[in-house]
Amino acid sequence: MSASIVHRRGVKFCRYLSHRSIHTTPVKSKAVILGVYKEKDADPEFTIASTVFNEKFGGELEAKLKIAPNSFKAGGCRVLMGLDKEYDAVALVCLGKKDTSYDSLEVLDSRKENVRKAVAAGISKLQSLDVKEVEVDPCGDPEAAAEGSYLKMYSYDELKAKDKRKLPMELTCYLTDKSNASAKSSWKQGQVQAEGQNLARKLMEMPSNKLTPRIFASIAQEKLQNLGNTEIIVRDQKWAEDQNMGAFLCVSKGSQEPLVFLEVSYQGAGKEDLPVAIVGKGVTFDSGGISIKPSASMDEMRADMGGAACTLGAIYAAAKLRLPINIKGFMPLCENMPSGTAVKPGDVVTAMNGKTIQVDNTDAEGRLILADALCYAETFQPKAILDMATLTGAIDVALGAGAAAVFTNSSVLWSSLEKAGSRTGDRVWRMPLWDCYTKQITESQLADLNNISGGRSAGACTAAAFLKEFVKNEHWAHLDIAGVMKNKSEISYLNKGMAGRPTRTIIEFLRNLKI
Ligand code: BES
Ligand code: ZN
Ligand code: ZN
Repeated sequence: MSASIVHRRGVKFCRYLSHRSIHTTPVKSKAVILGVYKEKDADPEFTIASTVFNEKFGGELEAKLKIAPNSFKAGGCRVLMGLDKEYDAVALVCLGKKDTSYDSLEVLDSRKENVRKAVAAGISKLQSLDVKEVEVDPCGDPEAAAEGSYLKMYSYDELKAKDKRKLPMELTCYLTDKSNASAKSSWKQGQVQAEGQNLARKLMEMPSNKLTPRIFASIAQEKLQNLGNTEIIVRDQKWAEDQNMGAFLCVSKGSQEPLVFLEVSYQGAGKEDLPVAIVGKGVTFDSGGISIKPSASMDEMRADMGGAACTLGAIYAAAKLRLPINIKGFMPLCENMPSGTAVKPGDVVTAMNGKTIQVDNTDAEGRLILADALCYAETFQPKAILDMATLTGAIDVALGAGAAAVFTNSSVLWSSLEKAGSRTGDRVWRMPLWDCYTKQITESQLADLNNISGGRSAGACTAAAFLKEFVKNEHWAHLDIAGVMKNKSEISYLNKGMAGRPTRTIIEFLRNLKI
């Protein structure tokens, strides 16, 4: 009896030919991703898994890598087919240099990052070949291998026709020792961290007509309800009025969509343990309001709820990983729209802490909604407060997609965030929180504060200085994430689109925080 593979309506069948009849049996196409270390002009070196396969194939992997060896570069991939009965495809991926570690100039654990990039190259290739099942070489770091795999596999295409969507593949960690529990659990950890970031990516990418403040809240409820130790409270406009959140309320005034203030709790430690508060800007669409934005790229402002998305993604992962801490998430959600009821330049509003704000530019709305959310977060006496916001175009000019900016009054928070970023590859960079910037937003004609500074300079720093006026906590960090909001091709293990950064860095930070 002989067998051949045929395709019918995109499904793979195995046709067994016998003398009398033809049976067609569906088979799942299965592949393996194998890591190989290789530097220019040097011989390849195999990982534990690729050594096993090279031996199984009688040295064939080594032989194949002798063909145009220098075209096999870090982050690259070669797919070999027809080598094996069990695996329809073998994807060799290049890990680059073998003995890398922490790179102090790059502030990066390059060993981990090389694993993410390499396995992602394999995932991308195999997904385009319609593979259904993939076993992934952990390449010495199952957590990074899972992150690279699950992040690369994700793309938001559920609004496209079925045949245009990338199909998910079933991923598992290839282990030579199937009873290696620690490798399995670190693979799982990487998977959950990637899922947290993918949740943020999805929420950011969703169009604003399909992700209103109320829909955001219902997705949050759906994602958290089965995790245990979580609580979610959805507050409405009346509640915000009762809290005297004049700054938040004024941003929402021009929109037909009701605002939501979302309060999420995760309790992973004892009740007496003070929580870490995370505040996320949740502007589901930022048109600029009366100070309307130019129309080019305005569609990207559907992702102006990126701070709230990363907050939810990080809390989702923290709860799923059962991290031993308490977290409170605060997400002011609304739209910023121009209309007859919208807030107007020069209007003065009063924030929850009684400070008055002259709203000279309605497009500087993020700092207004965060002002009230930060005041409210303070009422829980958190041990630390983080906020994340796609706050200024200025930070994109300064840092681009290289790093999220951190403005903080706490060297403890700074060093924890920097360390977390170097591990996850989703890095942060410190920016100043100085009095000279405060001076620029306290020179208001009518009120205590102005929501913009007089000049064009240091836009991200003056925005941070504005937020500082609403915080008392001695461990506060503001992350301006406007520059890392989307991915063109900067991060090879993320497809083009909204990035969900820096969700994994926040998860890592929460895991290790000691205050
Ligand atoms: N959401 C924007 C900031 C932004 C810009 C995020 C580009 C992502 C990509 C924010 O609300 C805004 O409009 N900021 C203004 C502030 C200015 C009016 C002081 C900006 O950066 O231009
Ligand atoms: Zn704006
Ligand atoms: Zn905005």
